[in-house]
Amino acid sequence: MKTTERMDYLPVEPAIRTFMRAGELEKSGADIIHLEIGEPDFDTPSHISLAAKEALDRGKTHYCDPQGVLELREAIAATVGARSGVSVDPGCVVVTPGLRPVLFYGALATLQKGDEGIFIDPAFAAFPTVIEFAEARAVPVALREELGYRLDMNELRAAISPRTRLLMLNSPHNPSGGILSADDMAEIEGLAREHDFVVLSDETYEEIYYGDKPSSVAEFPGMRDRAILLSGFSKTYCMTGWRLGYAVVPPSLVDAFVKLATNSVTCSSTFVQHAAVSALQGSQDSVRSMVAEFRMRRDVLVDGLNRIPGISCHVPEGAFYAFPNITGVGMSDVQLADVLLEKAGVATLAGSVFGQQGKGHLRLAFTTPLDRIQMAIERIGNVVSTLPAPVAGKEPR
Ligand SMILES: Cc1ncc(COP(=O)(O)O)c(C=O)c1O
Repeated sequence: MKTTERMDYLPVEPAIRTFMRAGELEKSGADIIHLEIGEPDFDTPSHISLAAKEALDRGKTHYCDPQGVLELREAIAATVGARSGVSVDPGCVVVTPGLRPVLFYGALATLQKGDEGIFIDPAFAAFPTVIEFAEARAVPVALREELGYRLDMNELRAAISPRTRLLMLNSPHNPSGGILSADDMAEIEGLAREHDFVVLSDETYEEIYYGDKPSSVAEFPGMRDRAILLSGFSKTYCMTGWRLGYAVVPPSLVDAFVKLATNSVTCSSTFVQHAAVSALQGSQDSVRSMVAEFRMRRDVLVDGLNRIPGISCHVPEGAFYAFPNITGVGMSDVQLADVLLEKAGVATLAGSVFGQQGKGHLRLAFTTPLDRIQMAIERIGNVVSTLPAPVAGKEPR
């Protein structure tokens, strides 16, 4: 049957495609090192699983408030408020099954045909997707490698037009690991006010950083009426399969988000929401030890990549991805990702799946144990050493 044109805007998730291919190779006996999927390799902390079991035993198995269980919305408001130093109203929190649905809600509630939504390129693929799905034009602004994966504010200014209604940010950033500074955020706040657009800030990696605490849109009281803060439980609490995320939205958008939630998912899983209260209110030791482990892996991976001729890797400041520039190896990112998977058993993602600016890069998730990361570096080095030297001035296809 012919599907609607709208379906063409929804890509097959590249990480899943690679994961499936890696699975086929494993079935035929290959030893695959998985660096393609963006999920922590640690178990959900046991106190959270226990809270879920207790919630099941207490009968928290029915429909609940489509906006989210009040106890969880209060816990989220308290957490975001404590982190940002600006109080948050639980009435402005909307809970969803994972962060992904709220990306759609953000675009569907703020954009219509003919509008423009700006996204940062490279980007988590869902960003331009949701803008186009809302029938608006997706306008990229480059995150510059040479600026340490920060925005050039002049380029952002140039991308704003009278039709701009939405700016989608993500810091700490997937795939580059870059972090926007407080000055960047302050400037963005000024631009949003001057040009009357909404800022959607995906802060799902907010707790995974290796230097100063990342700045958040929530820190700017002036953003209260025009910022949508998104986060979730997947990355911080190793809860990717539980499916729980949330948005903190301006009062004027609460009804729209609740309507979108009610009509698309009815509500988020009730017992999972009760477990999430314990994630926020319980010990944060597991988060600290996870980040310490990620830091160790990051240092080994980045150092190892930088020792391979033709590869240079910026040190990611947050999230759990290395995003090396591979333009010196004489192969495109797509070709290299393919060769690494098929010939060396290292599953990575080609940078170009994250947008034009990702071209010439690979994304490697350091969500696998250190010894496997060391083995991956060795295998990548071996593959690269067998490639013919790149021809000067000739762009790899
Ligand atoms: C930037 C970004 N936003 C959202 C998501 C999706 O998160 P969730 O599992 O909460 O839907 C991801 C997952 O990789 C991501 O990298």
